[in-house]
Order: sequence, then C-alpha cells, then structure tokens
Amino acid sequence: MTATETMRAAVIDRFGPPEVLHMTEVPKPRPGDGEVLVAVRAAGVNAIDWLIRAGISPAEFPLVIGWDVSGTVVATGPHVTGLREGDDVFGMLRFPSPAGCYAEYVAAPAAELAIKPDNIDHLTAAAAPMAGITAWQALFRQGEIAQGQRVLVHSAAGGVGHVAVQLAKLAGAAEVIGTASARNHDFLTGLGADRVIDYTSERISEVVSDLDLVVDPRGGADFFELLEVVRPGGVIVTLKGKQQGYENALAERGVRDGYVYVTPDREALTEVTRYLAEGRLNIAIDRVLPLDDVVKAHTFGEQGHVRGRIVLEVS
Ligand SMILES: NC(=O)c1ccc[n+]([C@@H]2O[C@H](COP(=O)([O-])OP(=O)(O)OC[C@H]3O[C@@H](n4cnc5c(N)ncnc54)[C@H](OP(=O)(O)O)[C@@H]3O)[C@@H](O)[C@H]2O)c1
Repeated sequence: MTATETMRAAVIDRFGPPEVLHMTEVPKPRPGDGEVLVAVRAAGVNAIDWLIRAGISPAEFPLVIGWDVSGTVVATGPHVTGLREGDDVFGMLRFPSPAGCYAEYVAAPAAELAIKPDNIDHLTAAAAPMAGITAWQALFRQGEIAQGQRVLVHSAAGGVGHVAVQLAKLAGAAEVIGTASARNHDFLTGLGADRVIDYTSERISEVVSDLDLVVDPRGGADFFELLEVVRPGGVIVTLKGKQQGYENALAERGVRDGYVYVTPDREALTEVTRYLAEGRLNIAIDRVLPLDDVVKAHTFGEQGHVRGRIVLEVS
C-alpha cells in the first residue's frame, strides 16, 4: 500500500475572520479526466475569497479557498490535449465550485487554463484571471461596449476596476471615467482613464451625466446613484445582482441592465491573455505575500482598499 502524498495548503474548517485560515497538510490532488496537476507558483486573492471565508454561501469543510492560479504543469490526466508537463499556465478554476488554489498543487481542468505569456511573471499571471474575465464579460458580453462610447467604471482602482478601465480604452471608448479615492487618481490616469472622480468628496451624479455604459462592482446604494448618470437607452452592468427597487428604477430611467456572475470563460481568458502578451494590459499588484501569510492577505484585503490585486507566492 502506498502512503497518500500530502502537500501544504491554507485551509478553513469553519467560516469566520481571517484567523480561521491556517496552514496544514492535506492530500495532494490527482488530475482527473481532462485535468492537469499544476505546481502552484502564485495564487491571486480576490474579494470573493474573503466573502466566502466569512460565510457568504454554504461550503463543505475542510475548504481550500482560491480560484486564481499561475504555475507549472507537472502531470496530466486522461484526455488532455494542448497542455503537457513543463508548461507554465494560468487561469481561474472551477468558480463558483471549490478549486483549492491556496496550496502547493491544484488539479485544474485543462480547458480553464491558458499558457502564461513569457513577458509576464507568475505573480502577475495569478493576479489576472478573475479580474480580467469579469471585466471582459462586463464590458463586452453584458455591456456590448462600442467604439466612441462614454464609459464609467466604479471602484476603478480595484482588481476588476483597473482592468475594466484599460479594456474600455482598448475597445475604443471615447471617454473612460473611473471612481477612486484621491490616492489612486494618478494610478488610474496612468492606466488610461480620461478622468477620475473622487467618490469621497464628489457626488458622482453631480459631476457626470449621459453616459453610455457604467460598470458597478459595488451595488447597494451606489447602484441607484450610478443609474442616474446613464443616458436613457444606455446600459448599467452590475456585479452584485438585483436588489429591492432595481427593476422599477431601471424602467423609470429607460436603462438596460446587465449582470455578471463570473464563471470560467475560454473566450474571455483568450482575449485577456492576448492583451497581456501584447503588453497592452497592465496588472497592478498591490502586494505579494508568502502563502504562509494568508491571514495578513485577507486582513488587508477586506479593508476594501486594495489597488489592483494581492498575490500569494507559493514556492
Ligand atoms: N459578480 C461577479 O462575478 C464578481 C466578480 C469579481 C468581483 N466581484 C465583486 O466586485 C467587487 C470588486 O471586486 P474587486 O476584486 O475589484 O475588489 P477590490 O479589488 O477589493 O476593490 C478594492 C477597490 O475598491 C475601491 N473602493 C473602496 N470603497 C469604494 C467606494 N465607496 N467607492 C468606489 N470605490 C471604492 C478601492 O479604491 P480606494 O482605495 O481608492 O477607495 C479599492 O481600490 C467586489 O465586491 C467583488 O465581490 C463580483
């Protein structure tokens, strides 16, 4: 009988504050049909990670959080085509099902991975997938962005927002407006934003109007304020879904809505990979922490002011 191989992973056994995350030994996964085993070099930390850790939706324990990964293929399961041992790959895995990227190894559906472009490192690649796919789906699939439009990206300095600003410019938007606190204005204009509104000192609806497309990652009261700046016939895309008064407010203003609930998306990942490889999309890394410091990563992240992404480095 062979002993089960183990690996180190950041695990939760219950929902709670960042301190419920702890490093422990767990069984090393094996790649199933259509899957590869990836030696994880880096895992991206997304807002959903701390929401799930805190208990936003049911889960089975023990749970290894983490959906964004970059690493190297070390084994392939049956029926894998297009990837082989030694390939450097990245992607967003299985979301919203558990994927287990805060670990030394992860079993990944080959179809959800792309070859990491040589011009970006594993840390950058791990920061890109969920932000990139979400922003792409919001602008292109839901928002049907067109050249010459005026677009506003709310919460623009965050992981999703800073990618959305750049993708909107790449799509040919005539004006891209972001919202962020003052410390992030130079960061956003450096990424191509034409204008940045300081949401801490300005009311968005008092300084802009008649926009074609608005992306709202925050929802709640922000959604209703943002709705005021969309022109009749324009589009607001929410990442937070419907809430009380949502349908009536849209109908009153004659605005179409779109909703993104991100799932692995070959087309979006391919487009994001192409922009990264061409050097036309920059991914900002707020900070890199070793996997052992996962509690620090979540503690900082859930304060709500990450610029770009936090990345966990896995040696
Ligand atoms: N539905 C989906 O499929 C989906 C997918 C991905 C993400 N999301 C959701 O989208 C949201 C954003 O995700 P993310 O990863 O981009 O988050 P994030 O990186 O944690 O966002 C942090 C950013 O939010 C900004 N911010 C904080 N308070 C703000 C406010 N009141 N107004 C405007 N901006 C504010 C901060 O800018 P300052 O520091 O300048 O304040 C910071 O740069 C999260 O709620 C996440 O759950 C949904």
